Parts: sequence; C-alpha cells; structure tokens
Amino acid sequence: MSDTKKGKKLFVKTYGCQMNEYDSDRLFEVMGEIGFSATDDMSKADVIVLNTCHIREKAAEKVYSELGRIKLVRNKRLQEGFDTTIVVAGCVAQAEGREILSRAPVVNIVIGPQSFHRLPDYIFSAEQHKQRIVDTDFPVELKFDHLPERTTKKLTTFLTVQEGCDKFCTFCVVPYTRGGEYSRPVDEIASEARALAKAGTRELTLLGQNVNAYHGADAQGQAASLAQLIEKLADIEGLQRIRYTTSHPNDMTDDLINAHADIPKLMPYLHLPFQSGSNKILKAMNRTHDIDKYIDVIGRMRTARPDIALSTDIIVGFPGETDQDFEETMQLVRTINYAQAYSFTYSARPGTTAANMDGQVPKELASARLQELQALLKEQQFAFNQGVIGQKLPILLEKYGRMDGQLVGRSPYLQLVHVMADKSLLGEIIEVEIVDATRNSLTGQMAGQMGKVDREALV
Ligand code: 5AD
Ligand code: SF4
Repeated sequence: MSDTKKGKKLFVKTYGCQMNEYDSDRLFEVMGEIGFSATDDMSKADVIVLNTCHIREKAAEKVYSELGRIKLVRNKRLQEGFDTTIVVAGCVAQAEGREILSRAPVVNIVIGPQSFHRLPDYIFSAEQHKQRIVDTDFPVELKFDHLPERTTKKLTTFLTVQEGCDKFCTFCVVPYTRGGEYSRPVDEIASEARALAKAGTRELTLLGQNVNAYHGADAQGQAASLAQLIEKLADIEGLQRIRYTTSHPNDMTDDLINAHADIPKLMPYLHLPFQSGSNKILKAMNRTHDIDKYIDVIGRMRTARPDIALSTDIIVGFPGETDQDFEETMQLVRTINYAQAYSFTYSARPGTTAANMDGQVPKELASARLQELQALLKEQQFAFNQGVIGQKLPILLEKYGRMDGQLVGRSPYLQLVHVMADKSLLGEIIEVEIVDATRNSLTGQMAGQMGKVDREALV
C-alpha cells in the first residue's frame, strides 16, 4: 500500500484544545508511515483532515462552512486530474457522526478521536473502493498501541497521558466525545517522552482532560499518580521542563502540590479551572467542589511554591446565574489573582444536562458579564507581567521573533519573552533580565555575556 502513497500530501486543520494539537501531530506521524508528508497548502493536499472541536458553540457550523470552501478546492483539483480525500476527525465527528455524510456530501471519512490510528486503512478503502466511512466507536483496542514512535521535532511538545472524563460537569460534552477516563501506562509515556527528548523536545506538557486524576499502571502494575509520573519523566536527559494541564480541584493531591516544591523541572504554573465563584452554580454544574475547597487548594499550592503562576477557566451565564452569583465569581478572581485565564459565556451543548435547565441567561447579559470579568482578568495579567520587570528569569528560546536578531521564548510562568539573542541559542535556556512588560508579553535582555548557562541551575 505504501508505494502508491509515495509523495502524497496531507493537510490538517486543527481546531480547539491542546489535545487536538497532540492528536494532529500523531496523525502526521501515522500518515508519515504510509508515505504522506505535510503541506500547509490545502490545494496541494491529497488528503484534507479537519480535526474538530465541539466544546463550545458554533463548532459544527464552522466545520460545515469550511467544508464548503474545501469543496471548491476539491473541484478545482478534480479538473486538474487529482483526487482528494476529505476527512472530518475529532469531537464534532464523534458528536455528529453519520449526519456529516448527509449534510456534506463532499466528505469521505468521519472518524472520532479514539479511532484516528485507523485512518490509513480508511483512506485506502475510500480511494480504492470509493467507500464513505464513519467510525465513531470507542474501540476496545487503544489508539496509543497502534501509533508509531514519535518523530515530531519540536522544542516544546504535548504528550497525552490521560484522556476522557468521568466527571460529567453538566455543561460539558467531553465525557461524550472523548469517552471515559483512561490513563496510559507509565512506561509507555516514558518511552514516548524519551523519543521526543531525543528528537529535540526540551519542554513537555502532559495532557489530559483530567490530567491530575492520572493513575496509569507502573512497571509493577500499581497505579502511579501524576506526581510519580512527573518524577520519573524528570530523569530523562535533555528534557528541561515539564508542565501539565488541565487539572480538577478535587484531584489536587498533596504529592502533586509537593512535587512543585521538590522537582526543579516541574514549572511553577498551574491551570486550575473553577468555572464559577458561586457555590449554588457549582452545584448545578456538578463540579463536586465548592469555593472553600478551591481556595484551600490554591493556598496549599502557594505555600509549596510561593511564586506559582495561576490560570483558570471560567464560565459566565450558566443557567440560573444571578447578578449575585456573578459577583461571587468576580470576588473569587479578586481573591486568587490570576496570571492569566480563559473565560467564556455558557453555551448549551446538545446532549448535556445543563442544556435543558431552566433559567437560561439572555445572551446580552452573559456577554456584558463576560466583558466585565475579562476587564478584571486583563488587569491582573498585566500586573502579573509587570511584576517580573527587573527579575532575571531562565527563558527557553523557542522560535525566531519578527525582528531581525530577535528570539522568542517562554519564562517558567509561561510568559512570552522577546529577546535579542544569537540564533545559535535556539533551544537553549538562557538567563534574561526582564526590562518591559505588556499584558501579552515581556521584553528582556540577555543577562551579562553569559549566553548558554548551566541549565540544571536554572530550571
Ligand atoms: N459553555 C461554555 N464554556 C464551556 N466550557 C466547556 N463547556 C462549555 C460550555 N458548554 C469551557 C470550560 C472548560 C473549557 C475547556 O471550556 O470552562 O474548562
Ligand atoms: Fe468537562 Fe468537567 Fe470533565 Fe472538565 S471535568 S472535561 S469540564 S466534564
């Protein structure tokens, strides 16, 4: 089969979360095995994949309108004598299934997030037998067992360690699109991380919808915690920094909190969604934690790692949210003080419990609340960035900047940092003195003439 694919091109458009980005990376690797290489130009692609997201509103509509554009590309290629196979993958594929084939006749394959390792076979069937295929199973065999060794050459890379969710927050589609909670075994993750480090990864972000509920089997078959996993990964040579996302407050165990004090490679950054500052709304959301619990976790984290940068997700306009409930959300944000945050107006997702709740909040009111909240979050983000001016921070230089001679990197707190530095330093951690800060990024100067510095001392 591989001979027929030589020189073929794959175009992937990725929507949504970091896990989709990870899946897309793996998709390139799977397709690479049968001779496909990546293209950024859709009109050159023999296979076009939309890796979709269903978490918030209009996701499906966006996909259908993109498919309209793709149809034009496909028709033009057809006139030039080329076939194109069109694939809808990811969470919209999982949620809409066969419906996509009837609404968008241009689509050849619909494939859910748990099945994309089967794509090469499906492409073969679609091309050779002109079949249209839908696979939205949660297969018994795990996609991770069927994926090739990592070849992605990126300085900063995602690695899925846990997938799916059993928590069933009433607003959320994830338990339906990604399925139940599953943790990958420790050794499998460690060998993937080693391959990535060998290929050049310096910073690894461990991904999971509930990453801190991780309980994968270790070599003895015992469940390992996320903290234990991180400890093991921290031994990998070449890997300089470790992060993880997204966490649930109920799963913030002491060993994970302490890992932030004990493991130098674990970065001082925590993304911990609270969703609403009102206990009444949290209950209706089925979050199973209250505000006191959240504040307590943050307090313990700040004791372990006083400089920890905090991030969160917040939803406004959940059904039944009053002005008072919203004020409690604002109050919690003031109490915690975030380095950065994601905030959304609630959108009813088909099939979720909250979609049928009474007290749906009018769109205009939800938008006004969001604006007020985002103004506060922006202030906090700006203040956080201003707060590091004058500090010398270890910066992992990740890419070229827009200006000649400029490189762009990340601080331990995930801030974007612009610095004039020789391009030979790409991929290095250097010490940078921060001289300016906006809400979105920092400007720094290489501290002294030191250039490359002792990484172990800085991470
Ligand atoms: N409406 C608005 N925001 C949502 N999120 C998840 N589902 C919804 C929804 N139905 C947000 C939550 C979650 C983040 C990934 O997306 O804040 O943490
Ligand atoms: Fe969705 Fe809640 Fe699970 Fe997060 S914890 S993925 S918000 S159901």
